[in-house]
Amino acid sequence: MGAGSQHPSEGPARALVCCEALSFCWPGASAPTLSHLSLRLQAGEAVLLRGESGQGKSTLLSLLAGILSPSSGSLTVGGKDFHALSQRQRDRVRGADIGVIFQQFNLLPFLSILDNLLLPIGFSAERRARLAATGTPPEVAAEELLCTLGLSLKALGNRSVGALSVGQQQRVAAARALLGSPSLILADEPTSALDPKNRDAFLRALKGAQTARGAALLCVSHDPALEPYFDRTVTLDRLQGGRP
Ligand SMILES: Nc1ncnc2c1ncn2[C@@H]1O[C@H](COP(=O)(O)OP(=O)(O)OP(=O)(O)O)[C@@H](O)[C@H]1O
Ligand SMILES: [Mg+2]
Repeated sequence: MGAGSQHPSEGPARALVCCEALSFCWPGASAPTLSHLSLRLQAGEAVLLRGESGQGKSTLLSLLAGILSPSSGSLTVGGKDFHALSQRQRDRVRGADIGVIFQQFNLLPFLSILDNLLLPIGFSAERRARLAATGTPPEVAAEELLCTLGLSLKALGNRSVGALSVGQQQRVAAARALLGSPSLILADEPTSALDPKNRDAFLRALKGAQTARGAALLCVSHDPALEPYFDRTVTLDRLQGGRP
């Protein structure tokens, strides 16, 4: 996306993410999950997203990640009109520049922990190139990232991802999303399984990865203890014009 050099003060026209009147209706649903939603995220900005369970936070993240396509409205990410791109083109943008920490982790059980971590690097030449520019081999970078999250490949040994605790899987999923420095990080309740000590270490690592690249971060959480780590908090109600 090449938005790492942007600064939040450059104004709405330079927003890394821009949604206007965004609506989304799941197939077969009687009413839209998201309706006329507006959101701007600047490069370098960290935003906490709150909302009731079932209100559409994960759906919004899937739209911003290009996994889902809006029913109506506009959505641009890194200057690209997601509405106009094919699924394949959006997948490519996500692979290169969007790190997604899924609520359900989406780790692949048939791959080792290391192979799970290196998956996005394998898919994207852009991520590989950014990592190569740091001079750190991918395996070393993966281990370093895991260490900042309080885990170690050496300590975990040859365990399969299915043999990890939920909190360990959550952190492996986070390291996978952050490896190769995406310019947009979407994190869906990334600390839900962590104790306060690991939660705080996790947030420091997440913020460290975000600020190192000047990335935008949108993080979903119900936990008010996360608020001090973010520039602002938004709610789905407010993003949709305060509809009840
Ligand atoms: N794959 C799907 N197919 C159809 N409907 C879905 C699908 N995924 C989610 N929904 C519906 O969309 C609505 C929003 O779900 P979503 O998962 O985005 O909520 P959420 O705000 O992330 O909730 P939570 O805080 O519990 O994670 C819900 O009514 C849900 O049933
Ligand atoms: Mg959710």
